[in-house]
Amino acid sequence: MNPDQADATGPTDPSAPTGWPAGFFDRADPTDDADFYGAPRFVTHIDEGAITAVRDLYDELGVGGDVLDLMSSWVSHLRRAPERLTVLGLNAAELAANPMADERVVHDLNADPTLPFADASYDAALCCVSIDYLVDPVAVLAETARVLRPGAPVVITFSNRCFPTKAVHAWLDTDDAGRCALVADHLARSGGFAPARVERRTPSGRYRGDPLYAVVATRLEG
Ligand SMILES: C[S@@+](CC[C@H](N)C(=O)[O-])C[C@H]1O[C@@H](n2cnc3c(N)ncnc32)[C@H](O)[C@@H]1O
Repeated sequence: MNPDQADATGPTDPSAPTGWPAGFFDRADPTDDADFYGAPRFVTHIDEGAITAVRDLYDELGVGGDVLDLMSSWVSHLRRAPERLTVLGLNAAELAANPMADERVVHDLNADPTLPFADASYDAALCCVSIDYLVDPVAVLAETARVLRPGAPVVITFSNRCFPTKAVHAWLDTDDAGRCALVADHLARSGGFAPARVERRTPSGRYRGDPLYAVVATRLEG
């Protein structure tokens, strides 16, 4: 799969992994995530070009209504506040500083992938530059499907930067195309989404900024 092309991909993608080797979701630092994220980081983790690409994508998809920003911080990269924004992450001070948030939930998804929300209670779920830190992404995405309304999108965006000691080996041991395939495969395995669309949202070729990739899928009906 070439993530530079806006082609659909999914479980039949030949480059998608079919089995997980031992240690696939291990990390160099397996200690409590709450400790690593205990001190607030009022920074942005991607450059302005990549952030603009995230904002443009959210606008294009019409993200609004009841929105859940998973693995969130002080910024959700939305141009306009939705009707209701729930932010879930690990650092209470970062979440408190998120100016658009209506509800703030400190919850460790690696300790418990269950989302503390009702079935079919959101119109969109977002996860920006964070999916690589999940040790059971399929369980979290199955939960994400549960809390989304039918037809609602899950929007997973990422670049080529991370906290390497906290990212899973599956993420570190491949390239950008492999990461796109991995996320599409996680969505397919979660069982709750239509085949994902994979896109590179920043220019390719000689582009010098942070690349921004998006994997988007919609919640299946019923
Ligand atoms: C690289 S930051 C990205 C923050 C934000 N999404 C953004 O776009 O700037 C990673 C975020 O993931 C959250 N996070 C990391 N591990 C987590 C976990 N186990 N459970 C819930 N959130 C987690 C942290 O609180 C942190 O804010």
